[in-house]
Amino acid sequence: MRVLGISGSLRAASYNSQLLHAARELLPKGAELELFDGLREVPPYDQDLDNDGVSAPVQALREAISAADMLLIATPEYNGSLPGLLKNAIDWASRPRGSASLADKPVAVIGATTGSFGGVWAQADTRKVLGIAGARVIDCDLAVPHAPECFADGGLVDLEFRAQLGELMRRLAQFEIADAA
Ligand SMILES: Cc1cc2nc3c(=O)[nH]c(=O)nc-3n(C[C@H](O)[C@H](O)[C@H](O)COP(=O)(O)O)c2cc1C
Repeated sequence: MRVLGISGSLRAASYNSQLLHAARELLPKGAELELFDGLREVPPYDQDLDNDGVSAPVQALREAISAADMLLIATPEYNGSLPGLLKNAIDWASRPRGSASLADKPVAVIGATTGSFGGVWAQADTRKVLGIAGARVIDCDLAVPHAPECFADGGLVDLEFRAQLGELMRRLAQFEIADAA
């Protein structure tokens, strides 16, 4: 099982990137998680460019998604929704229609925010967009609120959320989670 982790934040000390690092630690043996590090280079979606031949960063994004068995997206919430760069990446990966890298790709969405709700709106919007883009959205849930209290020294230290994430990683590795409707 090859999982591609995508963080919706470019921030060096991003809690969502830290969440993906924790997910990698907690994955059972035999499964591996690679973090996609090219999101900053992905240009704004332009259908003209898509028709004429895409740039190397877009190609890298599409190839990384195609090579993965599953995506694990950790997203912050920006103004009540997913960050623009994540939506932009999903738009690129949703094309070309019929052979898109996202088509039928199992995707799990989790996230962390500094606020009280863990970014549940951002996660809901990400799942909605992914579903419309043709991905298989996995029915799972992990929203980490009050992130400064849950992370320390670059790691997820809250024991309850660590346990929840560990359980989720076990389930994802076994592919036991039923797809969302
Ligand atoms: C532009 C912007 C908008 C934000 N809007 C929200 C929001 O709607 N809800 C929320 O819980 N947090 C919001 N936050 C706070 C983020 O949850 C917080 O910055 C978080 O640490 C970002 O994730 P990261 O640590 O992975 O970069 C916002 C932050 C920024 C920069």
